[in-house]
Amino acid sequence: MRIDIITAVPGILDGVLNHSIVKRAQDKGLAEIVVHNLHEFGIGKYRQIDDYPFGGGAGMVLMAEPISRCIEQLKSERHYDEVIYLTPDGETFRQPIANRLSLAGNLMLLCGHYKGIDQRIRDLYITKEISVGDYVLTGGELAAAIVIDSVVRLLPGVLGNEESALSDTFQDQLLAPQVYTRPEHFQGLSVPEVLLSGDHEKIAAWRLEQSHERTLKLRPDLLSGTSEQL
Ligand code: ADE
Repeated sequence: MRIDIITAVPGILDGVLNHSIVKRAQDKGLAEIVVHNLHEFGIGKYRQIDDYPFGGGAGMVLMAEPISRCIEQLKSERHYDEVIYLTPDGETFRQPIANRLSLAGNLMLLCGHYKGIDQRIRDLYITKEISVGDYVLTGGELAAAIVIDSVVRLLPGVLGNEESALSDTFQDQLLAPQVYTRPEHFQGLSVPEVLLSGDHEKIAAWRLEQSHERTLKLRPDLLSGTSEQL
């Protein structure tokens, strides 16, 4: 999979792209992630990328032309399955969207900043708008990082068998069961006996039961089918 990210603040993405599983996926050649600095497509001597909103109001708006130049250049090089704009008024990001995006060949992510981007970019180029939750971030970079992390870990070969994404919380509308590691006893609390039994069938049954119990207690909406997740 290839992911192109367009941003006015590329540095914000350094952490997520250069560590842990997202880095491993790139090192293994399973994901190619390329960051494009919007300032390089800016207008005039000062590489301007934003301007005052027509009609007045606070904040600056990212101009259509620099974004269009960048998108057009990328689109001339390959086909994109989705051109995604990260925005608080987009569709709320959930596991099924991550699953679907993980099947794509090429994705483009556009991060907004300041007061947003010129609407005409959304009208002309954007195929999907995603929000990571009902709160406003300074820009789309942290939201893009969330989308990238959750999608890249689903790519075949990125996680080892033992870390399989299939057992993740949300993959089957259930929260994952609790986990323990050594020591067996810690500050008066012990690891549940069944996990030490070596009986894999019993362990699997216990985990499923715990998953149901935890989901019922913490996220009953997932079980009742009223969740937006479904
Ligand atoms: N940009 C600013 N806030 C955002 C949010 N909640 N989700 C996605 N992109 C954003």
